[in-house]
Amino acid sequence: MNRRELFKGASGLALLSLLPSYGAQAQTTVASGREALSLDKGWRFFEGDVAFPEPIGNSATYDSTKTGAAGGAAALNFDDTEWEAVTLPHDFVSFQPIENGRNVAQGFRRRGTAWYRNILRFEESDIGKHIELQLDGIATYATIWFNGTVVRHSFSGYASSYIDITAFATYGNALNSLDIRVDAQSMEGWWYEGGGMYRHAWVVKRNPVHIITDGVYGFPVKSESGWHVPLEITLYNIGDKATPVEVVTDLCELDGTVLKTATTSIDVPSLQKAVAVSGLDYDTPKLWSVATPNLYLVRTRVMQDGRMVDEQSYETGFRTTRWDADQGLFLNDQPLKVQGVCIHQDHAGVGVAIPDALIEYRLKRLKELGANAIRSSHNAPNKHLLRMADRLGFLIMDENRMFNPSPEYLDQLTWMVRRDRNHPSVYLWSVFNEEPMQGTLQGYEMVRRMSEAVKELDRNRPVTAAMNDGYFKEHNVSQAVDVVGFNYQQGSYDRFHAENPTKPMYSSEDTSAFMTRGEYVSDRDGRHVIASYDDEAAPWGETHLAGWKAIDERPFIAGGFVWTGFDYHGEPTPLTWPANSSVFGIMDLCGFEKAAFYMHQSQWVKDKPVLWLIPHWNWKAGENVRVMACTNCDEVEVFLNGKSQGRQKRDKYVMNTWHIPFAAGKLEARGYNAGKLIKTTVVETTSDPVTLNVIPERDTAKGDGIDVVTFRIESRDTKGRFTQFCQADCTFTVDGGEIIGVGNGNSNSAESEKGNKRALFNGLAQVIVKTHEGGTGNLTLMASAPGLKSGTAKVKLIVTAPWPYQAVSEPVQPLPVMLTAPVTQTPPEVIPQNLSPLQTELWGRLRPGVVNDALAQDGYLLAVTRFTPYARVQKQGGLLKLPRAKGAFQVFLDGRPIGAKSDAAEASFEVPLPAGTGERNLAFLFKLKAGETFGLPERAWIATL
Ligand code: GAL
Repeated sequence: MNRRELFKGASGLALLSLLPSYGAQAQTTVASGREALSLDKGWRFFEGDVAFPEPIGNSATYDSTKTGAAGGAAALNFDDTEWEAVTLPHDFVSFQPIENGRNVAQGFRRRGTAWYRNILRFEESDIGKHIELQLDGIATYATIWFNGTVVRHSFSGYASSYIDITAFATYGNALNSLDIRVDAQSMEGWWYEGGGMYRHAWVVKRNPVHIITDGVYGFPVKSESGWHVPLEITLYNIGDKATPVEVVTDLCELDGTVLKTATTSIDVPSLQKAVAVSGLDYDTPKLWSVATPNLYLVRTRVMQDGRMVDEQSYETGFRTTRWDADQGLFLNDQPLKVQGVCIHQDHAGVGVAIPDALIEYRLKRLKELGANAIRSSHNAPNKHLLRMADRLGFLIMDENRMFNPSPEYLDQLTWMVRRDRNHPSVYLWSVFNEEPMQGTLQGYEMVRRMSEAVKELDRNRPVTAAMNDGYFKEHNVSQAVDVVGFNYQQGSYDRFHAENPTKPMYSSEDTSAFMTRGEYVSDRDGRHVIASYDDEAAPWGETHLAGWKAIDERPFIAGGFVWTGFDYHGEPTPLTWPANSSVFGIMDLCGFEKAAFYMHQSQWVKDKPVLWLIPHWNWKAGENVRVMACTNCDEVEVFLNGKSQGRQKRDKYVMNTWHIPFAAGKLEARGYNAGKLIKTTVVETTSDPVTLNVIPERDTAKGDGIDVVTFRIESRDTKGRFTQFCQADCTFTVDGGEIIGVGNGNSNSAESEKGNKRALFNGLAQVIVKTHEGGTGNLTLMASAPGLKSGTAKVKLIVTAPWPYQAVSEPVQPLPVMLTAPVTQTPPEVIPQNLSPLQTELWGRLRPGVVNDALAQDGYLLAVTRFTPYARVQKQGGLLKLPRAKGAFQVFLDGRPIGAKSDAAEASFEVPLPAGTGERNLAFLFKLKAGETFGLPERAWIATL
């Protein structure tokens, strides 16, 4: 094995000319020297804690406190070869069983402590570059060591850590150890938060003078004189002297066509930041809106002595928002009722570790629903969600997690604003959700401070807080925000508006209604299911229909955010064990539509006809069935087996209802606009399920080892009709990809969401498959179940270059310092196996990294060490690698020769190390010539195979 193979992932990858739909950050921009490399690979994971060794004695204690001297699993030479290899995003809690007696809010799953370790290799050519580690999100608290030194304590699972590791980094064969202890026992939320490195990780390499992370602020604003993009570009210089640079910013079409350019010059002092201020005018932008999300590219280049030293781009859009206390929100001067949903970052099968492609799937489902806004509750979202919200056309209520204006927590808030303030989708900063201090002087003072911290960074968006009480208290936070959020409390809308006629208002959260997909009879205590007619809601909430009516009828309420768009793990309110995921969603945990989907879609979608019928049509003969049509047509008529059951005018707030005695056959609804039939929908009595259908969400995927496709598994009858009562146990077989999670939306199921088995729930299940890197041909998924005909679907794989990855290494064990016996004229007859302390006190040391002086006369030098190889090497053998060795020698393992270097000249040398348990004795017998220097000028190690 050569070095390149050992350090797998060494990138040297090509410039990505087009932004991919995900991972826009991952790029090597050869011209500017900036590289954003994914660090999602190469991690080794351990669930549980690893104790730090307790130093005994003065010297050991003294040594243990020094920089670089972290012990235990934070030490470079820690044996993690038996740990599990994992790729990010990774939610270790999603692998845990669902167990009664654990925390219901966290989905009855064990959380706890875990460790992640990686080994990074930087090339000699990286010397002098600024190297930054970016960890997008670790749940929940984390301590991060780099080369044995703590470089960061992360105190929020929702804020990123940007860590400048330049000063600690080593290059070439001297590898770098990145070790992370995760405390996922601590909680920041009352919902399922998962655990571990559940977002991406990156290494970003830049030239000494560069744009800092989130360092370009340029958000288009409109004034009397037209559109303007004010620019603030924050630069940093790790060089040792002030450096003059020119900062050139282009406003471009997405294809790169330059529309406008702004140029400014600035001196960047050594080890300091400098802000280059300029701006761009552009008179004729195509506006961004939720219906037409037109985007532009802002590209900034830093020029030093005429040479480009950094380049950074982002997408943005031109749009205005205006809040009116009587008429709500205006986007680009057009009234826009916010049809929003609250969501958590959580999905069936994968927990909080949602791959980018799955984020896209979820947003597309919300788009189909007719939602135009998302509240990222109750924390800063994944940055890919914002990128996709810009592209697909959603407004985002961007929310901070902890309500606390003390410095550490204020940093979390300002980090979020800096990261997100160029997104056209972000239209509202929320500083909290439902804080008990909201109706107090203290709460008011806290919000004032947090609001000001936001405004120092962004004056383009209002600050809000999601209150659920305290509105009428003498001191309350509504007095400190720009627009007032109402969580529920719909009975207070009118009073608050009357008493505060100049304060814009909206529903930051409403509904919290209960519904189990495919169920039409509630049975809370027996089967733990809730009917889908939208009759039941939490005491603090209201049904979907009532919630929207209260908002839609009031022009002064700027819209609302339904709790929630999707079900999530935890919070199964009002159900109890075994229910372990919520039933609030408009869609279930897989993104499968519930009846609430049809209700909201009929209210929210305006540009095409919508018509749905609930329930299914498999009842007992004569049973009186409540039939509901959800439509946006003017009128709707229902027919049973061709016979009209009556035509009704659309009732958009309660839907249209008939009570129809059941007769097997065909129930049909016809929707009319201005008397003209424009839409028909049918539900039929089905026969028994006979087959499984596998329906991929799309027909192509990228064969890059990153893309993910969801498959919907449906049971069907002989006529191909969906059979909603089938609960068959399915087994899935995949070719060309890897199943990363399974689900079915059943909140009562404690089945594992990993592996290749899942029962259907009311006719449906979901399989989430990740492609293989280098994948070509097809990704094929087969679903089978006893007694049913199997189903198969193929997705065509498109050959796609993976992201450029940071070079990482398999675990390597540094060769310990060797003891050297006095030089002899003849070789020793036996290699000593156990050295007495007396002997070794007198012996010398063969230190790695040192070339030893030549001897005065020829002789033999024996160097010996005892060490315990890493566990994997003990089992499978390893490779002793000396990148640079000087002198001729023989190598002995436990007294037996295993290899030799016959030439005295400096060369790299390697020899297989056979497997074997326990402590081993390794010896080098140098045969030295007078006048020749010798030794190991570079650190030697034992590589795992
Ligand atoms: C709200 C809260 C949400 C969720 C919801 C359940 O009060 O903001 O996070 O817990 O209740 O109904």
